Amino acid sequence: MNKGIAIYPGSFDPPTNGHLDLIQRGSKIFEELVVAILRNTEKSPMFSLAERLEMLRELTADLKNVRIDTFGGLMVEYAKSIDAMCVLRGIRAISDYEYELQMALMNRKLEPTLETVFMMPADKYSYVSSRLVREVAQVGGPVKGLVPDVVDQKLREKLDPAYKLHMQTEKKNVTEVPKRRKRKA
Ligand code: PNS
Repeated sequence: MNKGIAIYPGSFDPPTNGHLDLIQRGSKIFEELVVAILRNTEKSPMFSLAERLEMLRELTADLKNVRIDTFGGLMVEYAKSIDAMCVLRGIRAISDYEYELQMALMNRKLEPTLETVFMMPADKYSYVSSRLVREVAQVGGPVKGLVPDVVDQKLREKLDPAYKLHMQTEKKNVTEVPKRRKRKA
């Protein structure tokens, strides 16, 4: 077991600024942080596994000790397979505590050597959750500032195909506008 490796498991559907905040904090503490997206075949997520993988990879590209992966089955088994010693989880408010405590104790029962470490995201994200972001975005509300810009854009594309078409046309127009020639003196 490697003391420097930690796993940050979750659904990340979609990744929020709270998740990113926690990843940044975790990356400063652990030698290697593996952000592990659950492959859940029962749930029907808003973003496919591939989309979440791509978004998280893009968002963490500058954090050299952060790796993004997916896992299925028991989290503790996956943690063992990558030699992780710690599970990182975020606690935003007291309402998170009960669920997180239950999960941490169940994981300890399943694998006593794996420790759960809780960290708090910045207080400005203490009310931000993927579920609320989905809920607000689905009815056209603004989520800017709650999710990274790339996620905001992906949400718009997903929920409003007309927006995607508009962005593609904009991009095409920008590349097609001919450069102005300099006037001869
Ligand atoms: O972001 P989420 O949905 O709160 O993450 C929950 C997650 C993925 C960490 C949890 O559901 C999990 O670890 N699932 C894998 C199956 C497992 O090991 N279950 C026992 C946990 S007590």
